[in-house]
Amino acid sequence: MTAIRYQDRTFDCAPGQTVLDCLTAGGVAVPSSCRAGVCQSCLMRAEEGEVPAAAQAGLKPTLAAQGYFLACSCRPQAPLTVALPDAERLRMAAEVVSIEPLNADIVAVKLKPSQQMAYRAGQFIRLYKDPAQSRCYSLASVPELDDHLEIHVRAVPGGQVSGWVHRELRAGDAVEIADSSGLCFYVDDRPEQPLLLLGTGSGLAPLYGIVRDALNQGHRGPVWLYHGSTGPQGLYRTGELAALAERHPDFHYVRCVSEGEAPAGFRPGTPLDAACADHPVLDGWRVFLCGHPELVRKGRMQAFLAGASMADIHADPFVPSGGLAAAA
Ligand SMILES: Cc1cc2nc3c(=O)[nH]c(=O)nc-3n(C[C@H](O)[C@H](O)[C@H](O)COP(=O)(O)OP(=O)(O)OC[C@H]3O[C@@H](n4cnc5c(N)ncnc54)[C@H](O)[C@@H]3O)c2cc1C
Ligand code: FES
Repeated sequence: MTAIRYQDRTFDCAPGQTVLDCLTAGGVAVPSSCRAGVCQSCLMRAEEGEVPAAAQAGLKPTLAAQGYFLACSCRPQAPLTVALPDAERLRMAAEVVSIEPLNADIVAVKLKPSQQMAYRAGQFIRLYKDPAQSRCYSLASVPELDDHLEIHVRAVPGGQVSGWVHRELRAGDAVEIADSSGLCFYVDDRPEQPLLLLGTGSGLAPLYGIVRDALNQGHRGPVWLYHGSTGPQGLYRTGELAALAERHPDFHYVRCVSEGEAPAGFRPGTPLDAACADHPVLDGWRVFLCGHPELVRKGRMQAFLAGASMADIHADPFVPSGGLAAAA
């Protein structure tokens, strides 16, 4: 057993148990959602003791250096004293520069943060509706190409934050965001490597950023982007992506529709179906999977079975991402 100290109580953490499970079993209300190290809802801070490196995967180095960690990925080897984060300290002000529809369900929101924010296209920020409600949204913007942060928000039926964005948020509004995080972004260490990017719906947001980032950094290997929806009207930024493919002969943009007959220029089925048919062997490829959690889960498995190394598979399932702010 490992001792976990929280406020004035000590809890026994069993071997292999996470800090999240240990504290919630002891009656502590720790915010959480995915329980898989993705959404960062369960962010905590170690005030004393050493946190395993795996519990800080995807966190900014500045946060990791301050002892922040993900309670759902933290299986402590030594005693820890932990606290919920001061969410107020993590937030920064931003102005809504514009909100534009991308299709019937998805809007592009451009944001100007009050202070400079270092980020990579494909990482995600947390957008606050109010101090108690926040959600993660991936960055479609590229720092070297775009003046503002850009996120794509799909209206989830009954959704607290996405509903507010669609119904109430307007250009000029002041909002709060939390700094970028996540490991789903392009690194220019192997410019010849083939890249495969798959997403559905607003899962295009990080992929749109990653593709433009890679091409802007001079990526030389082939880049294949598969974007899917149930019908053609669910796809967006099609003109921009087609124009990008014209300018970069090694960039290939494939539009997929999974319901009804596929019109000319569209592939039938999911992006995963189309990509697997086109690229049965992914040995040496780098793969990015974003959006619907089921697509991401299946895509990760298929890519691995087709030969991609796990270290080369980057995934952001858009799991529900509430939490964090409850600690405010
Ligand atoms: C790393 C990461 C990146 C993300 N990036 C984006 C992005 O770029 N664009 C984007 O639109 N969303 C993205 N999401 C999802 C987003 O964070 C919210 O979960 C989503 O907007 C719903 O929030 P809500 O407050 O509107 O719904 P809630 O009020 O939280 O939920 C309302 C209902 O919808 C269900 N639900 C919640 N989220 C989803 C979902 N994603 N799909 C289906 N049902 C859901 C809930 O279980 C609940 O029943 C991302 C999530 C993660 C973890
Ligand atoms: S990252 Fe821990 S609950 Fe999602």
